[in-house]
Amino acid sequence: MSRSDEPGFWEERYRAGRMPWDAGGVPVALQRFLAADLTRGRVLIPGCGSGYEVAAFVAAGWIVDAIDFSPAAVARARQSLGPHGACVREGDFFAEPGPARCDLIYERTFLCSLPPERWPEYAARMAALLRPGGRLVGLFYYGVEPEPPPYPLTDGSARAQLGEAFERVESRPVPAAQSLPLYAGAERWEIWRRRPA
Ligand SMILES: C[S@@+](CC[C@H](N)C(=O)[O-])C[C@H]1O[C@@H](n2cnc3c(N)ncnc32)[C@H](O)[C@@H]1O
Repeated sequence: MSRSDEPGFWEERYRAGRMPWDAGGVPVALQRFLAADLTRGRVLIPGCGSGYEVAAFVAAGWIVDAIDFSPAAVARARQSLGPHGACVREGDFFAEPGPARCDLIYERTFLCSLPPERWPEYAARMAALLRPGGRLVGLFYYGVEPEPPPYPLTDGSARAQLGEAFERVESRPVPAAQSLPLYAGAERWEIWRRRPA
């Protein structure tokens, strides 16, 4: 059986339409962030899946680069995004040369899809791709999970992984009604600011 950091794991599920993580639209927390935050620039969406957020970022004026290593996910995103499908690339986030330094990286259920032994690599890559002062924003999954994936964070593991390169400047619980059953009551909207190098 493939691991959740291998493309086959996701490909099989997208092809079968078995996607309990798929929000079917743009999370309310992101809609609020985009309405309130006046900065613009280059945003990266790693592990973008169906990519609903791509159109929301484009509409808000961001230059978007989204990546996923499952061909079925990329096809799905491109089909629903129409002209904005060109923002979505197929590739391995850890292996591809990154885009030019980003101002923002958007996270939803990508980190928790990775086994914890890959988290230091995630943190290092995020830090390398973001300009100093840039922000890693999105929905992070905290709690206890008897049968991962998803692999939840704890306060301690989040600080241990991200705290060196990032300062957490916002963390607030997402109301359970705004989450899918898989994540209900365990999601937080967070903003981590890249420390100066
Ligand atoms: C739980 S899904 C989340 C998808 C999307 N972010 C969402 O919120 O619906 C995790 C996604 O990360 C992708 N993924 C996992 N590891 C990856 C990697 N190394 N490079 C690119 N995509 C990856 C998977 O193919 C899958 O689409």
